[in-house]
Amino acid sequence: MSDPRLIVRPATPADANAWVEMRHALWPEGTDAGHRDEVAQFFQGTFPRTPWAVLLAEDETGAVVGFAEVSIRPYAEGCVTTRVAYLEGWYVRPEARKQGMGRVLVAAAENWGRAHGCREFASDTQPDNTTSAATHLALGFTDVGLVRCFRKDL
Ligand SMILES: CC(C)(COP(=O)(O)OP(=O)(O)OC[C@H]1O[C@@H](n2cnc3c(N)ncnc32)[C@H](O)[C@@H]1OP(=O)(O)O)[C@@H](O)C(=O)NCCC(=O)NCCS
Repeated sequence: MSDPRLIVRPATPADANAWVEMRHALWPEGTDAGHRDEVAQFFQGTFPRTPWAVLLAEDETGAVVGFAEVSIRPYAEGCVTTRVAYLEGWYVRPEARKQGMGRVLVAAAENWGRAHGCREFASDTQPDNTTSAATHLALGFTDVGLVRCFRKDL
């Protein structure tokens, strides 16, 4: 059962710095400028990938300690419906982990997906991220297998 003291709410422009900092911790391969640019685009309504929602978790002191970014994808591995709610990013600050923050963020992301008419929720992680795999399974996700991804310019 989620702790009712844990609050999840949509991100506002005042959260930009905290969100950028946590994004950088989750995706260190991105540059600070790149994260700032995407965050600014999100609040300006010019983010290229939509719909996209950003949910922030607060602890009982009001400090922002985690985020979930959620989208709707036309297809997701292992899913049978189109318009699949998708957990694009999921992060809780190290000092706030294992206290149910991740769970409430995922529950809020699922509610967002339901409210947008989605019937499946999907996610992914790096093959070596065993904590992420374990937490996904603890929250009711099913492992639908590993894929390797490729790209090239056209
Ligand atoms: C993944 C992450 C967001 C989970 O956040 P969290 O706040 O610690 O998660 P919760 O405390 O809500 O735990 C959710 C469930 O996972 C379980 N869990 C948490 N950490 C775990 C771990 N290290 N190993 C195994 N299970 C774990 C919890 O027991 C809980 O299940 P339960 O409610 O049945 O007990 C957090 O560990 C994190 O930010 N990791 C680094 C970034 C990352 O890997 N993100 C995911 C990328 S896809």
